[in-house]
Amino acid sequence: MSLHSRTDYTKGALDESAVAEEPWALLEQWVKEAVDAGISDPTAFTLNTLDAEGFPHGRIVLLRDTRDEQLVFYTNYLSEKGQDVERLGKAGATFFWPHAERQIRVRGTVARVSEAESDIYFASRPRGSQLGAWSSQQSTEAVNRKQLESQFDAESARFEGRDVPRPPHWGGYAITPEVIEFWQGRASRMHDRIVCRRKEGESTWGTVRLQP
Ligand SMILES: Cc1cc2nc3c(=O)[nH]c(=O)nc-3n(C[C@H](O)[C@H](O)[C@H](O)COP(=O)(O)O)c2cc1C
Repeated sequence: MSLHSRTDYTKGALDESAVAEEPWALLEQWVKEAVDAGISDPTAFTLNTLDAEGFPHGRIVLLRDTRDEQLVFYTNYLSEKGQDVERLGKAGATFFWPHAERQIRVRGTVARVSEAESDIYFASRPRGSQLGAWSSQQSTEAVNRKQLESQFDAESARFEGRDVPRPPHWGGYAITPEVIEFWQGRASRMHDRIVCRRKEGESTWGTVRLQP
């Protein structure tokens, strides 16, 4: 199968001045514009981690908060990604919004959010998702689909008639960006790439343009 479709990217432009010293405001604006565009999973990003052997792993997770200039997502702390994050304390995040011809790449340090913050988010989830968090040892081998359904039924019975508490192995991580790259597609592959790097020991950002 050869895949030769070609898109000339013409939907926008990105100037250094749009990023200025406030890349976080621009990141939030691009996320909001994706949400407002009504596309499916506008907050989905690829979370990139390294395993113990140095192999990179990417998988999609959903951005749940951008408070305090951090990217917050939720997962099983014992999953493969959880183990990678706990081992290195570093991760990457890549967003792609085809409708806007935009990409954002972030890399930074990662830490668990507070138990209280995870509790609040967990309590806001639908009951089925809450039970699902108890019913899956994420990233471990399953015997078959039936085993998973039995686990779900068992957890449903266990919590029948009462609130489902957050499992201790499930909660949020917050990525604190050190580098944020904004990519806006342009005509003739002459795309705009603006990279913001946090200045050592400061809260301000330096900005450079990269060749596409
Ligand atoms: C659209 C989409 C959203 C997802 N959101 C999450 C999420 O927020 N948290 C999560 O743990 N997994 C999420 N997943 C599943 C992950 O991609 C992945 O399969 C799972 O977390 C196991 O990853 P791991 O074995 O590398 O830890 C999502 C998958 C898709 C396709």
